[in-house]
This record gives sequence, structure tokens and C-alpha cells, in this order.
Amino acid sequence: MGKVQNYIDDNRQRFLDELLDLLRIPSVSADPAFAGDVKKTAQAVAKSLKAAGCKNVKVNKTKGHPIVTGERIVNSKLPTVLVYGHYDVQPADPIELWDSPPFEPVIKKVRGHKQGAIFARGACDDKGQMYMHVKALEAMTKTKNVPCNIKFMIEGEEEVGSVNLEGFIKKNKKALNCDVVLVSDTSIISNKVPSITTGLRGLSYVEVEVSGANRDLHSGVYGGAVANPLNVLADMISSLKGKNGKIKIPNFYDDVLEVTKEERKAMNNAPFDIKAYKRELKINDTMGEKGYTVLEQTSIRPTLDVNGMWGGYIGEGAKTVLPAKAFAKISMRLVPNQDPDKITKLFTKHFKSLAPAGVKVKVTPHHGGEPAVTPTNTIEYKAASLAMEKTYGAEPIPQRSGGSIPIVSLFENILKVKTILMGFGLDTDDIHSPNEHFGIENYFKGISTIPYFYEYYTALKSGEKVDLSA
Ligand code: BES
Ligand code: MN
Ligand code: MN
Repeated sequence: MGKVQNYIDDNRQRFLDELLDLLRIPSVSADPAFAGDVKKTAQAVAKSLKAAGCKNVKVNKTKGHPIVTGERIVNSKLPTVLVYGHYDVQPADPIELWDSPPFEPVIKKVRGHKQGAIFARGACDDKGQMYMHVKALEAMTKTKNVPCNIKFMIEGEEEVGSVNLEGFIKKNKKALNCDVVLVSDTSIISNKVPSITTGLRGLSYVEVEVSGANRDLHSGVYGGAVANPLNVLADMISSLKGKNGKIKIPNFYDDVLEVTKEERKAMNNAPFDIKAYKRELKINDTMGEKGYTVLEQTSIRPTLDVNGMWGGYIGEGAKTVLPAKAFAKISMRLVPNQDPDKITKLFTKHFKSLAPAGVKVKVTPHHGGEPAVTPTNTIEYKAASLAMEKTYGAEPIPQRSGGSIPIVSLFENILKVKTILMGFGLDTDDIHSPNEHFGIENYFKGISTIPYFYEYYTALKSGEKVDLSA
């Protein structure tokens, strides 16, 4: 493995430049205006996979954006790892809040990153983290150090709910056959405290529409008599949560798997500085479910949040209007055992029941996803843990995350394999926000750690012991 690290060191600048090139293509999956760029990005990923030693590289067409696949098979008797990642990115809006253009990557100094960080949309989520795997493969093939079979599946629709991936996996079950899935699309606690993500929350996402009169009205002439959908919507939304942070949808918590006292204790042993947390976010206090710590509120507890709300007049100055319609996008993060479809149904029924007679309510479900948990008593977890210990010099802490990667539960249900979430980003990297960035150190730490995962996984699978000092 020393040769692999030497190769990475010798090609450091190129590895960086290539990622910057990839970040220059605006692969925004949500906006049809970028469809051409999304396709271009898929082709660029395919090209780099080929250059890294992948065979059978394909840009698979779907009804939406393409899925890039490839493989490096060394011996059918050896274990197979499927690498999953996404090359699509979130929209850059609000663009005016970026300090530098989102698709013109620059390297700058920033808190938490001693060696500086790459600023660009997708730098961390997930182009940068996905590309670590491409470069790790290159370093392994060029130094003849590929310990097991490696397959790649890099999609372009993760940020819009992976709508075409389920069908693709079902259709290509055989070709995707593997022993474990490896994903780098999550974070570590800090560059000094490595961690492995052992859980993801599920998601139920709905859009609601409240309508009143058949047209916008003068708020003086009609105001006071006719329902104002924006007022009503605000009322309905505020009744969804109590002051104690509990969600008031009947039966919402029925299936929530309570975490044992011991687990909660272990979870709260992870380093977490509430003062630094508040300081970094410039808030005076947090505001979560009573009886739970911030670490718990953002991992083992479900939440309900309005992601956007609109209607009426939002232009310059004042316009007196009683809007005909009001809208909101609402997400519910779910925890193990909660079923997204069931939760969406519970929400819909309850939300409709809240509507006063003067309005009509429509609820439209968007994509959802199931929660996921990774056990820590498996060979694959042990391999990831040892790999990180090797490169960080400290054993990583298992930690559940609040984010969602719905596809992970599909790997379990369809391919019948577990997923290792070995991410290298930081929670403060501003993914989905203006000024998203990814630490240079994180990028290279990822590239160095991944080959050890393959080595240790292969060794442990064949019953060998791993010697970290070797
Ligand atoms: N990579 C993120 C999920 C994530 C981020 C997990 C940080 C853990 C830590 C992923 O790209 C994402 O943004 N997922 C969406 C859900 C998806 C259905 C759009 C999310 O969590 O909001
Ligand atoms: Mn992601
Ligand atoms: Mn994302």
C-alpha cells in the first residue's frame, strides 16, 4: 500500500485539477435548463473511470439523467464492493449569497480546514467525495494493488430523489451483484475526530396548497370576511408542532424505535461542543424536542420542517391583496421503523382535517425515502473502522446522521447487502447552501483511506488478521 500512497503524492496536483474541472460543469439535476450539463458530467465521470482502470464503463440512459457504471474485476473468488455516489448537485440559488461563482471552483482558507478548501457547488456533496473513489481506483490500478473486485454506480438524480435508480437496480441486479456497498456522501465529526455514519433518517416530503376565493381580492374590500389562505396556512402549520417540539399529527410516533438508555449514553459521549455549535451558527439557543440533546434531536428523533412557503405579493414595496392561494413545502425526517408512505398518509389526513370551511386543501406527496442503520459488528464495518484508524491515527466513532440517502434502504431490500457510509465531509461544509466547500485535506484523506478499506475488507473476509503497523 506504500506504493499507492506514493502514487497519490506524486499526482497530487493533477488529482486536484481534475476535480476542479468536474466542478466546473453545472450538473444541477433539479433544473431542466441544465440537462445538457448533467449529461456532460456523466460523460466526464465515465471518461475518468476508464482512465482509472475501470472496464465495461457505460453511461446508461434512463427516463431522467444517466447512471454511470463500470467495474474492475480481478478474480471472481474475491469479494466485490459496489461504490455508489452521485455526480448531480443541488441548485446554486441563492446565487447572490456566494462569495465566488458556484461553478468556478477556487481554493480558499476557511474555518475547520487548515490546508484550505475547494469552494464550488458539489465540492463536498457529492462530486468531491465521489471523485475520491475514482482517484483511489486509479492509484490502485496503476500500482497493481487492487485487492478485490470493485464496481461503480454513479447516478445523476440523487438530489431529486433517485427516481430512476430503483428500476435500474432491479433490472441490473445480476450485474450489480456485490458483497457490500461503499458510499462517501456523509460527514465526519472533525478532521481530528474521525467517525463513520451508522444511520440515516428517512424522509416524507409533501407540498401543500390552501385555496380560498376564486381569485386574488382587494384586502380592504374583502378582508375580514373572506378566508386568507396565507393566514390559514400559517395557522395550520403552527398547529403541527407543540412548544415542546413534539409533532402533533395523531399516530406520528407510533412506530418510532426508541433507542436504549445505553445507546443514548454512548451517543452523547461523542465530542460535541454546544457553545461552539451555537457560536458557529450565530444563534442564541437551539430549539428542538424537549428531553433530547442536539445530537439526539438530529439523529434518532423525527422532525417536521417547512422548507418554503409562498403566496400573495412578495415584490418590492406594498401591494394590498388577499391571495387566492398559499403554498408550502414540508419535510418530515423519519427514524428507524417509521414508514414514509404511512407517515405521508397520516400527514395528509391530519392536515386536511385542520382546514376551516372557508378554504380547500390539497396535499401532493413528493419523493420519500426509508431510514437506514448500519450495524457495527460486521466485517465491513470493522474494515472501514480500521482503514480510518490507519490514516487518522484514531479509531473512528460510530455516529448516526440526520440526513437522508434513500437509496441505501433499496440496496438492502433489492441487492440484499449492507452499506458502509464512509464519508469525509464536515457538517460545516455548507452543502446545499451558498459557499459549499470541501477540505483539501479531506479530499486526500479520502483517497488514501479508501484503498485500505479494500485491503482490510478482503483480508478480514478471508479470515486473515489486519496489522495496522504493517
Ligand atoms: N449527501 C446528502 C445526505 C447527507 C448529507 C447525509 C450529510 C448525511 C450527512 C444527500 O445528497 C442529500 O442531500 N439527501 C437529501 C435527500 C434527497 C432525497 C434529496 C437530504 O438529506 O435532504
Ligand atoms: Mn449527497
Ligand atoms: Mn445533497
